[in-house]
Amino acid sequence: MEKFIIKGGIPLRGNVKISGAKNAALPIIAASLLTEEPVTLRRIPKVSDVFTMLNVLKTLGCKSYWKDDALTLDASNIISTEAPYELIKKMRASYYVLGPLVARFNEAKVALPGGCALGSRPVDLHIKGLKTLGAKVEIKHGYVTCKAKNLEGKRIMLKGQHGTSVGATINVMMAASLSKGVTKIEEAAMEPEVVDVANFLNRCGGKIEGMGTPIIEIEGRKKLKGTEYSIIPDRIETGTLLIASAITKGNVIVKKCNPEHNRVLIHLLKEYGVEIQEGKDYLNICPPKTVKPLSIQVGPYPSFSTDLQPPMISLLSVTPGNSTIVETIFENRFMHVPELIRLGADINMIDRYTAVIKGVKQLSGAPLMASDIRASAALILAGLVAKGETHISRIYHTDRGYEHIEKKLTRLGARIERVSDPDAP
Ligand code: UD1
Repeated sequence: MEKFIIKGGIPLRGNVKISGAKNAALPIIAASLLTEEPVTLRRIPKVSDVFTMLNVLKTLGCKSYWKDDALTLDASNIISTEAPYELIKKMRASYYVLGPLVARFNEAKVALPGGCALGSRPVDLHIKGLKTLGAKVEIKHGYVTCKAKNLEGKRIMLKGQHGTSVGATINVMMAASLSKGVTKIEEAAMEPEVVDVANFLNRCGGKIEGMGTPIIEIEGRKKLKGTEYSIIPDRIETGTLLIASAITKGNVIVKKCNPEHNRVLIHLLKEYGVEIQEGKDYLNICPPKTVKPLSIQVGPYPSFSTDLQPPMISLLSVTPGNSTIVETIFENRFMHVPELIRLGADINMIDRYTAVIKGVKQLSGAPLMASDIRASAALILAGLVAKGETHISRIYHTDRGYEHIEKKLTRLGARIERVSDPDAP
């Protein structure tokens, strides 16, 4: 295993290019199963979650190869419709193969993902959606088996107790693209990644309208065709680097991003005290003169993203005054808090969903352990301002979702090193 060693205290300066969005790349790779023609994807981030998804597709018989930065997928010769637990347990998003498999091959057997570091994370909405389209669903021995002669378009309401679902909206949208008739998803997730998948499916010959709004209409097609497609920029990486600039009082130009996808964060960072200039595909964040605490409630897009909550807590940990963050999406998304407290942060959990953060003057470096992708980003950001050395272990979590993070930060002047971790817990 490996770990990061960070020596804090250096303001980040310079330019950084944003990678393609992991959370759009994963479903779009799975969606390539919907067509027998080859699909070529650009701007796919080379992160370990992408390689896990490619492994899932490989077990199904889908071929893939890279040429420079273009990834071509060929699902013309699928030999299995079963996604085994060994792969699904590595990454919940592997579940995205369910909709495409049952729609194109009339059957799919996919392991139930179970819980993860963020909590129980059920898949009932995915199943509800596919059942409504006419699939017969059975859960046995830890697997979901879906069978369907012909899926048929229907009206489906996809809101659960924690609100809309990105994953269920995308899974149902993919299956509906090869169903008979029209599907109307109500209470659909509006995240830019949902829109990106819809745009990809339309490029394959699909007919989807309303993506980016709560009602998505999908007119099913008999067949989809191959295409070339370029993935949207990663708004979570964009946000993480903007917050990294703010926490170090740096001056960073974040390039090749889409400012429209980070509206709420930009607004919050301006309220916090930084100046931000923007163009169509860049953001320039300047050092703050005075800073203010913030009160933030996480929510589905366009609200503040749950994936940026951990890095934002790091920023507020060193912001004078009392800040509050209310998480509403995941039941267990504060695993970074006890680690930040080890650095000297003053964070009080009022209940399971509410953190009150009293800004401290200085964090001090310590050994830390990452628990999930975004928690690891929070720890890296804290390490960038902590006095002395911060060691972060279990950085395979970081590698799941951030492409070359230490290289990008090093180019911005950070002192961050990847070393092997023989004492890994
Ligand atoms: C996706 C993102 C993740 C992000 C999350 C919320 C990917 C690969 N991951 O996860 O980074 O944090 O959106 O923006 O894109 N739920 C149910 N039943 C279901 C499905 C979901 O109750 O069948 C619940 C979840 O437990 C959660 C909430 O709905 O509380 C939202 O989850 P969802 O939007 O589905 O998240 P993911 O697609 O898994």
